[in-house]
Amino acid sequence: MCKEALRLVPVVTEVPRLVARPFRLGEHELQPGTGVAPCILLVHHRPDLYPEPSRFRPERFLERKFSPFEYLPFGGGHRRCIGAAFALFEMKIVLGVALSAWQFRLLDERPPRPVRRNVTLGPSGGVPVALRAARRGAARAAA
Ligand code: HEM
Repeated sequence: MCKEALRLVPVVTEVPRLVARPFRLGEHELQPGTGVAPCILLVHHRPDLYPEPSRFRPERFLERKFSPFEYLPFGGGHRRCIGAAFALFEMKIVLGVALSAWQFRLLDERPPRPVRRNVTLGPSGGVPVALRAARRGAARAAA
């Protein structure tokens, strides 16, 4: 679930780099000082890698493995996010605790619209939900 959420709407959409040495990228000869920006969002929406790329389908991560060139929500290379392992661990803990304590109901059935906030993407108006305790006492224990 966490992996698919980060695929569908990566928090960071591209990771800019400055070319340090002459470098061949496909048919392009890039000179030092040239800016390049591998686009995480575009890679994550390639239909040859992710059939029906706009669908939230967490099972796709059980069906095959993706290389660091195909799935890169935390960037890549020397500057890859140093908080990646912590961020994924935190997401799983928070979701696990929240889902075991509460039942969530979307107040608006329309999918949230991702919008750019400076360098990151996030839902345009938050994601309003109604909460109900999953079982007696669980919500208080999680709070
Ligand atoms: C879901 C949560 C997060 C996402 C999607 C994310 C994503 C990213 C991305 C895409 C980059 C750029 C990597 C590149 O240029 O190749 C980055 C860099 C970085 N992130 Fe994260 N990040 C997350 C959470 C965190 C957390 C929790 C921390 C710290 C505890 C953190 C610390 C950093 C730092 C320090 C850099 C700069 C690394 C460098 O330039 O060497 N991030 N992150």
